[in-house]
Amino acid sequence: MGVFILEKLVITGKTPLHGEVTISGAKNAAVAIIPATILINGVCTIENLPNISDVKLYCNILEKLGVKITWNSEHEVTIDSRNISSSTAPMDITRKFRASYYLIGALLGRCKHAEVGLPGGCNLGSRPIDQHIKSFESLGASVEVNKGKIVAKADSLKGNSIYLDVVSVGATINAMLASVLAEGVTIIDNAAKEPHIVDVANFLNTMGADIRGAGTDIIKVNGVKELKGNATYSVVPDQIEAGTFMLAAVASRGDIVVKNCITKHLESITAKIIEIGGNVDANGDHLRVWCDKRTSKANIKTLPYPGFPTDLQPQMGVVLSLSEGTSIINESIWESRFQYTDELIKMGANITANGKSAIFQGVEELYGSPVYATDLRAGAALIIAGIAANGKTEIYNLTHIDRGYENIEEKFKKLGAQIERVQE
Ligand code: EPU
Repeated sequence: MGVFILEKLVITGKTPLHGEVTISGAKNAAVAIIPATILINGVCTIENLPNISDVKLYCNILEKLGVKITWNSEHEVTIDSRNISSSTAPMDITRKFRASYYLIGALLGRCKHAEVGLPGGCNLGSRPIDQHIKSFESLGASVEVNKGKIVAKADSLKGNSIYLDVVSVGATINAMLASVLAEGVTIIDNAAKEPHIVDVANFLNTMGADIRGAGTDIIKVNGVKELKGNATYSVVPDQIEAGTFMLAAVASRGDIVVKNCITKHLESITAKIIEIGGNVDANGDHLRVWCDKRTSKANIKTLPYPGFPTDLQPQMGVVLSLSEGTSIINESIWESRFQYTDELIKMGANITANGKSAIFQGVEELYGSPVYATDLRAGAALIIAGIAANGKTEIYNLTHIDRGYENIEEKFKKLGAQIERVQE
């Protein structure tokens, strides 16, 4: 019989966080930039990669396609995509995470053929990819979804106007990837504006692409014949990781400095923290967050950037669980992003979640309990709850958390949290 090792985080709570934390490179930029290297007929180096399992998994996929991966350090990789030998991605790995859909745009752009398993990832409700498919078809590709996989192919790709019916991060990036090497001009209208979209465009431009307007809702891609690479690019700091630590400081009534972040990307979170009675002093690439009293209620609606990010909604939910008064969160991006509320209720929170909205009746205190990370950001929220709560919290199902946060327990430990990873 095999040995089954169960990992859990054990947190002894009610410790206000103090000190400095350094933010890693952005997960959602990294998982787009790595497949984007497929478009380069050359070599490039990527710095400031987060050391997380999604990044490792993506590099494994690329190796299986004939790409040469050389790790220079745990945060820096050199990628040689000159000899791509396959445009069929390994289904067993691509099924494991959502961002594998970027392989379709990148392989289609480079090889004019892509065969990729339907993407998996966090269970946040229905996650359609119709806008991705529409974008590929606009460029002249035929796309078939059959037996759990997507096959996209084209004799040639031609620039076109693409209007996205919903503001989608993934579809915007995939439309950019597929159009970079297409003939002529592509206009992506109603594009998403998240910082990682700008980062992917900056990366591609550094490698020889001609993309303008990323960060606005109209992106213009002038197709080029080849991306030569031969350059080094550094991944943008993770807006969501920074926001997670900011909200942890508020929930624990601590005082921390968040280093290596772009404070401009954190304006919606900063504004909410100030609204509920916390303090933020932003200084370009770092900020101080502190809170010395019970926070007050607030209403939140998640929106595409620059609105309040859905990926910080669960962490904010912890803060509002402890805030005075009744708060309401409306989740407008994902159908099932309130699964974490069942776990917070086990810790004493008073939350009524119904579909895409939830009512938080603030309680004075949370108490430790065994809880289960239902997805990546839910896991981050439970860590914050455990740090703020009275007593001992045990968090199970850590694979979700490890997909997207680098050394999370070490970073929290340096801020004074009593948190240990324990194997059973
Ligand atoms: N949508 C469609 N059709 C599409 C694509 C999206 O209807 O073809 C809808 C979705 O159902 C959703 C909305 O559009 O309601 C936005 O989805 P989007 O495409 O922007 O999400 P995504 O690209 O699948 C990325 C992040 C998510 C983050 C969302 C929203 C990556 C790898 N994932 O997902 O991150 O929540 O944008 O900001 O970049 C996370 O990091 O924990 C995470 C889930």
